[in-house]
Amino acid sequence: MIDIKKDPRFKGLEPFPARVWLSSPTMHGDEQRWVDEAILTNWVSTVGRNIDEIEQQIAEYVGCRYAVGLSAGTAALHLATKLAGERLYGQARPNEGTLQGHKVFCSDVTFDASINPVAYEDGEAVFIDTERDTWNMDPEALKKAFEMYPDVSLIILAHLYGTPGKMEEIKAIAEGHGALIVEDAAESLGAKYMLKGRWVETGTLGDYNCISFNGNKIITGSAGGMFLTDSKEDADKVRKWSTQSREAAPWYQHEEIGYNYRISNIVAGVIRGQLPYLEEHIAQKKAIYERYRKGFADLPVTMNPFDSEKSEPNFWLSCCLIDDNSMAPHVRGEQDELWKSESGKSSPGEILTAIAAFKAEGRPIWKPMHMQPIYRTNPFVTVEGNGRGRTNAYISGSGIDVGADIFRRGLCLPSDNKMTAEQQDRIIEIIHRCFL
Ligand SMILES: Cc1ncc(COP(=O)(O)O)c(C=O)c1O
Repeated sequence: MIDIKKDPRFKGLEPFPARVWLSSPTMHGDEQRWVDEAILTNWVSTVGRNIDEIEQQIAEYVGCRYAVGLSAGTAALHLATKLAGERLYGQARPNEGTLQGHKVFCSDVTFDASINPVAYEDGEAVFIDTERDTWNMDPEALKKAFEMYPDVSLIILAHLYGTPGKMEEIKAIAEGHGALIVEDAAESLGAKYMLKGRWVETGTLGDYNCISFNGNKIITGSAGGMFLTDSKEDADKVRKWSTQSREAAPWYQHEEIGYNYRISNIVAGVIRGQLPYLEEHIAQKKAIYERYRKGFADLPVTMNPFDSEKSEPNFWLSCCLIDDNSMAPHVRGEQDELWKSESGKSSPGEILTAIAAFKAEGRPIWKPMHMQPIYRTNPFVTVEGNGRGRTNAYISGSGIDVGADIFRRGLCLPSDNKMTAEQQDRIIEIIHRCFL
């Protein structure tokens, strides 16, 4: 708890009259036009002009042949994972997943929606530790994982907070092992990556690619997602699966398991209205990142890093990492936490509590998947090999893994593109005072 009226560190600072959000929807008016058109023309269904338009526009923007609109990024990830499973291991029986009996290498520091589809398909996620340069899947740990599990043929990876991972290295490793990649670009729409000397968009870097239009994303439909591909066969299959896998018969005939995953023409109308503003949103997010970076120049923190030569993030969320020797005590249980102020130091717990007391929303870094109760028994691989059971009462170990360290010392900062410079300056000032 922080009482901003009593704590002398926060003297003279007023709370915000209205909440400053982590990342909330930003409407521009055009959304209403396309939603209204859908209603007025009675295309209130999972077919309609808005769907056709956004599929074409996103495919053009991202630079792929086909985009299939779905109800959520999670639905896109499920069908992408299932496509990969079916290509690798064949069609599964109706009561079994396509990955049954198979391991899949997965990003560790990400939202669980990235990797839950492995479980939906009865596979076993093997979590790969994170590197420090972009906070994404570590190619060196991935190499180790292939040494330990040479039979694995599928990798699922995300670009954390809109920052592209080390795709050139990861793609080379995947090719060397004949493995497929499911790319989760849910957070990184509009982020660019230099692949073999050419700038390409995230969402085209895997064998199966997914984006999200969730309410907190860089552009939104309130919900929605897309599967992106150059393969007509894959696009057609995802469209079929997403509309209950109906066969070409006069009645409902089914030879495959189906899903109700298609996007609504109303949701697509919101996305259609947002699309012209994607670049504007990215520019606003980049300005927010830069303002934090400059504002924190005299603090013992660093921003979430990216490779400025090989990538141009979309800066969806700005984050910071507290230097190890400036961390005040902060421990986390399964559902609660305890932190303590210390002069010259701070902690994610203290900073998030302080900005919340002023009515601004931040968030802890995604808790790594290998630390999640549901996945505690799944394998986890670091650059050193097996990441489980690494402490030893008799031999001193090498410390915690990178993902756990970023979770321990990092936090997501308010990154709403409607946040004013004055509001952001006040947040920067609050964070300075946490270190007093
Ligand atoms: C990395 C990542 N993957 C997947 C998803 C799931 O997308 P959706 O909410 O559209 O299902 C999200 C966000 O919601 C995400 O941040």
